[in-house]
Amino acid sequence: MADTAKSAKLTIGEQTYDLPIYSPTVGPDVLDIRKLYGQAGVFTYDPGFTSTASCDSTITFIDGDEGILLHRGYPIDQLASKSHYLEVCYLLMYGELPTAAELEDFENTITRHTMIHEQMHNFFRGFRRDAHPMATMVGVVGAMSAFYHDSTDISDPRQREIASHRLIAKMPTIAAMAYKYSIGQPFVYPRNDLDYAANFLHMCFSVPAEKYEVNPILARAMDRIFTLHADHEQNASTSTVRLASSSGANPFACIAAGIACLWGPAHGGANQACLEMLKEIGSVDRIPEFIARAKDKNDPFRLMGFGHRVYKNRDPRATVMKQSADEVLDLLGVENNPILQVAKELEKQALEDPYFIDKKLFPNVDFYSGIILEAMGFPTSMFTPIFALSRTVGWVSQWKEQLADPQHKIGRPRQLYLGSTLRDYTDIESR
Ligand code: CMC
Repeated sequence: MADTAKSAKLTIGEQTYDLPIYSPTVGPDVLDIRKLYGQAGVFTYDPGFTSTASCDSTITFIDGDEGILLHRGYPIDQLASKSHYLEVCYLLMYGELPTAAELEDFENTITRHTMIHEQMHNFFRGFRRDAHPMATMVGVVGAMSAFYHDSTDISDPRQREIASHRLIAKMPTIAAMAYKYSIGQPFVYPRNDLDYAANFLHMCFSVPAEKYEVNPILARAMDRIFTLHADHEQNASTSTVRLASSSGANPFACIAAGIACLWGPAHGGANQACLEMLKEIGSVDRIPEFIARAKDKNDPFRLMGFGHRVYKNRDPRATVMKQSADEVLDLLGVENNPILQVAKELEKQALEDPYFIDKKLFPNVDFYSGIILEAMGFPTSMFTPIFALSRTVGWVSQWKEQLADPQHKIGRPRQLYLGSTLRDYTDIESR
């Protein structure tokens, strides 16, 4: 924790309390309220954590007003255009860009951990065929705790590292198997001669009956989707991983908790919800009707793929994702795709609408990622699993950082209690 020379004064009644202020390397100052309850007997109130820093971290920085996203200081647009996913994984996990030898070693390690324990195949077969792949992933990743006992001792840094490698390596295999199972096709084993993204496409789209050539442009687009989702600071699923881990839970249980949280439509489920919305809109002439619904306070409908808790400017990931969407659609010759036409026109109309301008609601990363994934041939149900496998490196990096921090303690928020005061139990006959 940074030393502080500054402090703020909080006056409650006659008493004044000094609250230390910490200055980060970039971003707003942070008030330290840890001793407030002990000294003043009050809690702070911040549902949704809109003004609360839950930890200190050196991994990712976001400036939502300026639309900036940095991993270990490097801007996301540079990483997306010059780097690739496994190099970004190394950067997130270890803090620096790797040398050529370090990268080779890391890629080798990840590649050689991609197979899952053969007995885990039985787990998949226990699910209904129509199970959502996210349901399967929550279950199977949680079940990894039962298969990899030699990397669940969280007090051992080497075991933490091995668990992290296993999770990054096996998550594409698990996501692809969840998909194959849902469409009734045989599981496809990983291929060590392919890179991370190409191998994932191979495991999803190849079948034993014929040869499958991975298109390098699609593999590059897939890699970019992974890179753009790799980490995003203390978002809901990452905070869930940290909270689960704060009790000392094993890494596989913590990441399964993160996957469960990511599933919701306000978070990682937005890409699926966005594409379903675009299909429901169906044609450009129906856009005004849906924009009117999004603005109507009495209608719960929201424009999926718009708005963000932190970005009140353009989501920098969306800018890169939009370029990628153009490239992929160009390659696949689907530039006249009606969904893309609806997406482009919806984006234009929303960005010109005073409601969206005033509330600073811009398209987010999920607005474009769904379009790319659909064009590649993924069903909408696979969109969130792909987000989950990309975010795994962010989760494990944040988890490792938390466990290495000597200050970490169990997460235990307090509450503003508004329920009944003490009352006596009434016998059932008297109620
Ligand atoms: N469509 C219509 N109105 C919206 C939208 C939207 N997509 N997003 C926010 N608003 C309005 C909202 O009704 C509210 O209006 P008012 O101030 O009049 O009550 C105002 O904008 C602020 O919204 P909020 O819900 O207080 O903002 P939040 O920071 O709590 O929510 C959000 C952020 C992402 C949950 C929200 O913008 C949303 O539901 N968006 C659609 C889902 C989506 O695309 N999620 C993906 C996020 S990016 C991927 C990720 O990182 O997980």
